[in-house]
Amino acid sequence: MRPLRVDEVRVRSFRNLASVDVELGERFNVIAGDNGQGKTNLLEAVYVLATSKSFRSSKLTEVVAFGHDLASVRGRVIEDGDARVQSVGLRAGARSVKIDDKRPPTLAAYAVRTPMVVFHPGEISLSMGASSERRRLLDRTALYLAPAAMDELDCYTKALRARQRALEARGPSAKDLADWETLCVRHGLALMEHRARAGGLLADGAKAAFARIAAPDLELDAAYAPGAPRDEAAYLEELERRRPVDLRRGSAGVGPHRDELALSISGHAVRGVASQGQHRAVTLALKAAEIDVIGEARGVRPVLLLDDVSSELDRERTAALFSFLREQEGQVLLTTTRPELIDTGPNTARADFAIRGGRVERVSRVV
Ligand SMILES: Nc1ncnc2c1ncn2[C@@H]1O[C@H](COP(=O)(O)OP(=O)(O)OP(=O)(O)O)[C@@H](O)[C@H]1O
Ligand SMILES: [Mg+2]
Repeated sequence: MRPLRVDEVRVRSFRNLASVDVELGERFNVIAGDNGQGKTNLLEAVYVLATSKSFRSSKLTEVVAFGHDLASVRGRVIEDGDARVQSVGLRAGARSVKIDDKRPPTLAAYAVRTPMVVFHPGEISLSMGASSERRRLLDRTALYLAPAAMDELDCYTKALRARQRALEARGPSAKDLADWETLCVRHGLALMEHRARAGGLLADGAKAAFARIAAPDLELDAAYAPGAPRDEAAYLEELERRRPVDLRRGSAGVGPHRDELALSISGHAVRGVASQGQHRAVTLALKAAEIDVIGEARGVRPVLLLDDVSSELDRERTAALFSFLREQEGQVLLTTTRPELIDTGPNTARADFAIRGGRVERVSRVV
C-alpha cells in the first residue's frame, strides 16, 4: 500500500485554534494537553482538511471560531512521494474545497483523496449503540469503494422524506405516492448494493481482526442485513402495503434507513449480551476492518487519528492498542492528557506536541 501523510497544517479561526501552524512527523504524533485546551479541535481540523467533514458535528459552521466569519485549514499531503496542497474554507452556509488551488469536480471526489480513520471515545457505540452507528460505518466505507454511494444516500433520503410528507398531507391514496415510492426503490436498491459490498468486506475484515484480538474460543460474526427486499417488485409492493401503518407511525417501516450490520459473538447478538471488554474488542475489530477496506479501495494507507486514547483504557488495553498501532505502520496522530502513558515503543519516530489555550508547540519527548 502506498504511504500517505499530512506534513504541514495551517489552521485559522477554527474553534479555539486562532492560528496554528504545525509540522507533523511521519509516524507517531503525540498531542498532549489538559482538558478543554483544543486537542480534539486540532484532530478535527486535520480531519476536515482531509475529508471536508467533521467527525463530531454535522453542522460544519459550528467549527468557525466564535466571533469570526470564516474558518480555514490548509495543509500539505504527501502521497507516495508526491506532494499536494489541500484546503478547506468554511463560512455560514458555504464550504469551499481545493486541491492544488483547483476545485475538485465533486465533494465526494475531495472526500476520498486523503483517507483517514478516527478512533474516539464514543466509538464503542459501533458495537453497543443503535444501528444508525453501523450504517454510518457502512456509508463511510462505501464512499471509498464508490463515491456515487454518497449521492444515492442523498437522493434516497430526499425521496423517503417526500413520500412521508405526501402521506401525511394527502393520505394513503395520494396520487403522487407511487412516484415517490418508485424513487425510494430506485435509490434504495442502489444504496443497498453499495452497502452490501462494504458490509461484506467489513464483515470479513472484522472477523479476522477479532480472531487476533479476542479470546481464541470466541468468534465474531458480522453480516449486512438489508432493511428492504432486494427485489424491486417486492420492495415496491411492501411500501404500498405499508402506507396506512407508515402514516400512523410517522415513518417508513421498510427501506435501507433500517439497514443493519448484524453482529454476533459465537451465535449470540452482541448488543445486550457482550461484556464491556468484548464490546471494545468488537469495536477495535470493526475499526481495523475499516482501515483495511478503505486502504485496499484507495491503495494507500489511511492516516489514523486517535482522540483521548489513554482516558478510558487500562494498562493492558493500552498495550494491546499500541501493539495494534505498531502493526499499522502509517502516520498516527493521537491526543492525550497523559503523554507519559503513551508507549510508542523503542526506535519509533515520534513527535511530541503540547497544546494550551489553542496554541500548539513542539516539545521534547516526555517519558
Ligand atoms: N466555535 C468555537 N469557537 C471558539 N471556541 C470553541 C468553539 N467550539 C469549541 N470551542 C472551545 O474549544 C475548547 C474545547 O476544545 P477541545 O474539545 O479540543 O478540548 P480538548 O483539549 O479535546 O479537551 P478534553 O481533554 O476535555 O477532550 C472549549 O474551550 C470550547 O469552548
Ligand atoms: Mg477532547
